[in-house]
Amino acid sequence: MVFSFSRSSFSTDEVEVLLSAMDRVFSEESAANVKEKNSNVVRTAFGLHLRDEVFGKLVRHPRFVEPAQQIAGPDLYVMQSKINVKEAITGEMWQWHQDFATHHRDDGVPEPLALNLHVFLDDVNEFNGPLYFIRGSHRAGASDAHYDTVTTSHPLWVVPTEVVRKVGEKRDLVSATGPAGTALIFGDSLIHGSPPNLSPWTRAIFSLILDPVANRYTKDKRPEHIHHRDVTPVTALDDGCLTDMSRLGVRKATA
Ligand code: SIN
Ligand code: MN
Repeated sequence: MVFSFSRSSFSTDEVEVLLSAMDRVFSEESAANVKEKNSNVVRTAFGLHLRDEVFGKLVRHPRFVEPAQQIAGPDLYVMQSKINVKEAITGEMWQWHQDFATHHRDDGVPEPLALNLHVFLDDVNEFNGPLYFIRGSHRAGASDAHYDTVTTSHPLWVVPTEVVRKVGEKRDLVSATGPAGTALIFGDSLIHGSPPNLSPWTRAIFSLILDPVANRYTKDKRPEHIHHRDVTPVTALDDGCLTDMSRLGVRKATA
């Protein structure tokens, strides 16, 4: 299983809790909040599970952890937890890439076994920069990659155009759209990218990367908030972990 897609996996209440936590971390002055090149707008906020209790719970959420363990084995560590925002009108593309290219070259992760788990924090539609996947492209294996520093304001190991053409011409593309709360899981060598956001609607997506402990990093080139060093395996919390906290708060307030 390298690609799974589940609409409204997280409820409106749960997404509200996540959005409040997002506001908290985005308002911090932190090196882990990467801004757009020409504005003060946060493009990616990293290290979230260590910065806010809500994200600490999300990375242990059974709707993420249990399917991930079924696919990749029981002992998985949090390699990365972040939110990517694609601003209305100006949000830039992400070129075609495999996450493994970065994990392997920059972090020394041996094999493409990590999983990327997303939850949409906004509705994602055909106009506001959904992720595109080349279905089945993981079967072509890890591609060559080149480090693109010019196409967008975020340098990235990208799949060369001729490889995208060759791998993609006989395969389908999938555009990952859905309402806020939609969840996605995909593997480290699936080729994906996303177009610019020309629409008037900003979209934010939470992304958690879990990697088998036995496949852990062997280089520490990237900062800790981008590839976490703690390889303690995650364990699943209760299914209601995100909203129990706020319900408890309401009960206490009305008691
Ligand atoms: C995006 O947010 O559009 C790209 C994220 C990714 O490649 O993981
Ligand atoms: Mn990616």
